[in-house]
Amino acid sequence: MGWTVSEHSFEPGRITANGNKYMAGNGYLGFRGVLEEFGKEQLAAVTLAGVYDRSGSQWREPVNAPNGLYTVVSANGCKLSVLETEPLAHTQSLDFRSAINRRETMFGIPGGGRVTLTAERFASMDQHHLLAASWTLHCTADCRIEITTGIDGAVWDINGPHLLEQQSRSAGGALLSTAVTGELGLPVAVAELTVFGLAEQGELADAVIVLDRGTALRHFSIDAKVGETYTWWKYAAVYTGLDTQGDPAKGSPDERAVQTVQAAAATGYASLLEAHRLKWEERWSRSDCVIEGDEEAQLALRYSIYQLLIIAPVQSERVSIPARGLSGQVYKGAVFWDTEMFMLPFFLHSDPGIARNLMMYRIQTLDGARQKAAEYGYLGAFYAWESQDSGDDACTLFNVNDVFTGRPMRTYFRDKQIHISADVVHGLWQYILFTGDDSILADGGAEVIWECARFFYYYAYYNPVKQRYELLDVTGPDEYHERVNNNAFTSALVQETLKIALQTAERLQDKYPAAYTVLAESFADGPFLDEFTAMLAQLYVPQPDPETLVIEQFDRYLKLEDVPLTELKQRVIHPNEYWGGGNGLATTTRILKQADVVLMLHLFRDRYSREVKQANWEFYEPRTEHGSSLSSCIYALAAADIGLPDWGYPYFMRTATIDLTGESKQYVGDLYIGGTHPAANGGAWMAAVLGYAGLSFDGETARLQPALPQGWSAVELPVVLRGSSFRLRIGREEITVTAAAGNSEAVSFVGFGGETVLCPPGAILELAFQSNQRGA
Ligand code: BGC
Repeated sequence: MGWTVSEHSFEPGRITANGNKYMAGNGYLGFRGVLEEFGKEQLAAVTLAGVYDRSGSQWREPVNAPNGLYTVVSANGCKLSVLETEPLAHTQSLDFRSAINRRETMFGIPGGGRVTLTAERFASMDQHHLLAASWTLHCTADCRIEITTGIDGAVWDINGPHLLEQQSRSAGGALLSTAVTGELGLPVAVAELTVFGLAEQGELADAVIVLDRGTALRHFSIDAKVGETYTWWKYAAVYTGLDTQGDPAKGSPDERAVQTVQAAAATGYASLLEAHRLKWEERWSRSDCVIEGDEEAQLALRYSIYQLLIIAPVQSERVSIPARGLSGQVYKGAVFWDTEMFMLPFFLHSDPGIARNLMMYRIQTLDGARQKAAEYGYLGAFYAWESQDSGDDACTLFNVNDVFTGRPMRTYFRDKQIHISADVVHGLWQYILFTGDDSILADGGAEVIWECARFFYYYAYYNPVKQRYELLDVTGPDEYHERVNNNAFTSALVQETLKIALQTAERLQDKYPAAYTVLAESFADGPFLDEFTAMLAQLYVPQPDPETLVIEQFDRYLKLEDVPLTELKQRVIHPNEYWGGGNGLATTTRILKQADVVLMLHLFRDRYSREVKQANWEFYEPRTEHGSSLSSCIYALAAADIGLPDWGYPYFMRTATIDLTGESKQYVGDLYIGGTHPAANGGAWMAAVLGYAGLSFDGETARLQPALPQGWSAVELPVVLRGSSFRLRIGREEITVTAAAGNSEAVSFVGFGGETVLCPPGAILELAFQSNQRGA
């Protein structure tokens, strides 16, 4: 129970949504949840992590590889494809415990009788280049079956084509499709091998192979008999030039792809599946979060975790997680602040190795951030709002089209969302606090932090009359209000950056003095620590109004029209019109796109009283459109923080079900923005664990201040803190912490009653607390 999503009919209108809902992946590639007979029109895609291409002057985006699992079956001349023949019965499902997709479809066939097809497939978590599928066919009347299977080289592109010189050939029993990317000339190779069940049922050798540019298909036929079950297995492998760079001894992408499918066929489907299953078991053992008492929430939370696990970069510190995961080329496959602020917490608590990869990606892309700062005439590092492989900013100056005129609109996401550099620093420091691994500072982390602090020092404006530093002309998380002054969120994060920059210096001097000396030398011309200290002392960060306790989102926000959201919606002329920008409906009003001040209150929750947090929740909640999928989870978190978990519960469910229901914005202007929502998936985890279970960790002491929503009797999960593993059970009356026997370090826990208890290896702590009303 609770590990499967499925549907039992075929609805053409859900093809795109199901492509997201039934996503598979392993961090190296994403495989959309399409049916086997689907092609590019149905958005079939094998999206490659970290492989980008630009075609002509269009937007740069990730590369989709040819689909090596493509298959279509015919019976008595009738195509058994849901696109052409209405099925008698159809089920599509995803078992997300073992990451296996299944479909079973029954068709009526000409001449009478029925054919039932089943297909099972997985993107191997054990061998990241490998996809595998297992098929069965069964008929109720003898019939002539034709199977067309191989590699579909017609890939779905939004701004393509990206694969040039597409060719295909047979190679050692396998089919091979090759191409090179246009911009970087990277080879991309997909190999496929089909193995038929019983020799007497049909011989693959009889297959006719048709090669057409990047498409390579075999056609073979069977005189199928009633009652027989016909089976075949498919193996597909993908390699690119990035995988083989610097290691010519291992062979070219073509050779590696062919070797991989040959080896897979020799190993056999069952063993490959078992290895995949074991890897998933291991991943879940580190990340499963059990909710007792609420099955709906349980399913949605596990599913959200699944979505995070299929896109986590396990194998590379050169890629991070794009805003739409590996579900296609939407948003240019770019990495936003979503990663550090919404996804990183899950990995920090469950798989610090992945968290390190995510942060190393920012270190690897520091040069891009330096160049962006220089391009605008600033010092330091201004990270890309939309970051790809090099760290150059993929965000354009005209990022949205006006639906009324069709003309590009000037947006300031790229120029003014300076908080991105602070988000990166925040993420890095969180990584250090959670893991204790400060070696990352010497591995480039310190440079990132100091360059970001430098950028802010340069960006800030010192008002000599008010004698303070201000951050003018910025855009906070709420993108509907661009180019504002003193956005509270941005200022608070810049303040944190400056503190971290100073702490970094202390830490390096203390633990890595040689690295400190060399680095400090390169920053000697300043601005450096003296300037950071001065700015920190005088930086203006908007504070709660003494009477209303509301923190104004930015200067003059409260002068804007205070229109109710429902009324603003009535002013909408076109369903996809953009609410921000120069003429946007929300621009002149207090309606915000997404959590802004409330996000700041969550991040710095220990600095503000419960009254302040509640006043701001109540003020901003009715004024938030939740036009971004990054919003709901923050309201759920903040409600838990003030001890009112049920206020936030609908927001929790909304964030946790976003990729199950497919209910999210699909267009901004005329730009398609559908796909999966990893930030919302990470947000669901944050709301459940950091919000409802009430876990926080400052690097030394873990606190548990739960506020369980009605109906939840307990939350149970494993966590890793500073390399030590614990199992936490947070019930309504008691909290139990069990430390793994193999832990090397003891970590302190604080119960609701305020007592601090050291939890040595193997210990079991019972932490009593009096009430589940936090902050009361
Ligand atoms: C949000 C940003 C977010 C981006 C990618 C936008 O709609 O406003 O905060 O980073 O989507 O998810």
